[in-house]
Amino acid sequence: MEIFKNKKTLLDFIERQKEMGKRIGFAPTMGALHQGHISLYEAARKENDLVISSIFVNPTQFNNPADLEKYPRNIDKDIKTLEQSGFVDAVYIPEVSDIYPEGLKSKEYDFDGLENEMEGKFRPGHFNGVGTVVEELFRQVKPDNAYFGDKDYQQLAIIKKLTEKLALPIKIHGVAIHREASGLAMSSRNQRLSTTEKEAAKIIHETLVKVNDWFRVISIPEINKRVQDIFDEQRGMKLEYFEISDEATLKETDFFYKGRNFRAFIVVFVGDVRLIDNMHLD
Ligand code: PAF
Repeated sequence: MEIFKNKKTLLDFIERQKEMGKRIGFAPTMGALHQGHISLYEAARKENDLVISSIFVNPTQFNNPADLEKYPRNIDKDIKTLEQSGFVDAVYIPEVSDIYPEGLKSKEYDFDGLENEMEGKFRPGHFNGVGTVVEELFRQVKPDNAYFGDKDYQQLAIIKKLTEKLALPIKIHGVAIHREASGLAMSSRNQRLSTTEKEAAKIIHETLVKVNDWFRVISIPEINKRVQDIFDEQRGMKLEYFEISDEATLKETDFFYKGRNFRAFIVVFVGDVRLIDNMHLD
C-alpha cells in the first residue's frame, strides 16, 4: 500500500493513475479505523480499479474543542488496519497546510437547508467544516466514486448536495451502518466508552428497533415521548435529540405521509461521549 504524507506526492500519483484511465474509489476518514470503515473500502473495491483512503482529523468540523482534543488518533495502528484489510491501494495523510494553505478556516456553503436540521442545530459550523475538507479532498484525489457511512446520514445527504452544487463528476455512495453484535453502531468514539458504558449503549439501537415497530401504529408525538422516557430512566446517559424526519428533506415530522420515506435519528451522550445513530423506518 502506498502512503502519501503530502499533497505533492499524492497529486503526482493521481495524475499517473488518471493517465492510465484508472477508476478511483475514495473513502475519506478521520482515522481510528474500525470495521465500519472496512465496509466502505470493501464496497469501493468492488467498483473501482484503485481504492484510496485518507486520514485527517479535520479541526474545522469540531465545534467543541474538547471533542477535537479527545478524538482518538493512532496512525500506525490505522496503517496496519488498512494494510490488513487488503482492500486499499493508497492512503493520503495530509498536513494541515495541504488542506488549509491559508489557515484553518471553513468556507460557507448553502446546502438548501439540509445544514439547518438536526446536527446543524447542535453543532454550529460543523457542516461548513465537513464541506470544506471534503471539497478539498475531492479536488485533490479526483475520485470517480466516493463512499460514506449511513451512520452520518445527514453528512451523506450534505455531501451529495455539495457534489451536485459544485457539479463534481463524482458518484456518492452510502454504505449500510456496521454494528457490533450488541447492535451498537460502530464508531471511532466507541473507543472512549468504558466496558459498562459500551454494554449500556446498546439501548440506543434497541430503542430504534422499538421505534420501527411503533411507527405507523402509534402517533409520532407518542413515540417521541416514549423515547424520551426510555432515556430519562438511564443512568449516565442523556438524550440530546430524537426525531423522525423525512429522508429527503431531513425535516422533522409529526405525521406519516404516504409515498414519503422516513428515518429515525438519535443522539445520546453516554458519559461525555456523544453517540449518533439512525434507522430507516418501514
Ligand atoms: O465522517 C467522517 O469521518 C468525516 O466527517 C469526514 C467525512 C472524513 C470529513 O472529515
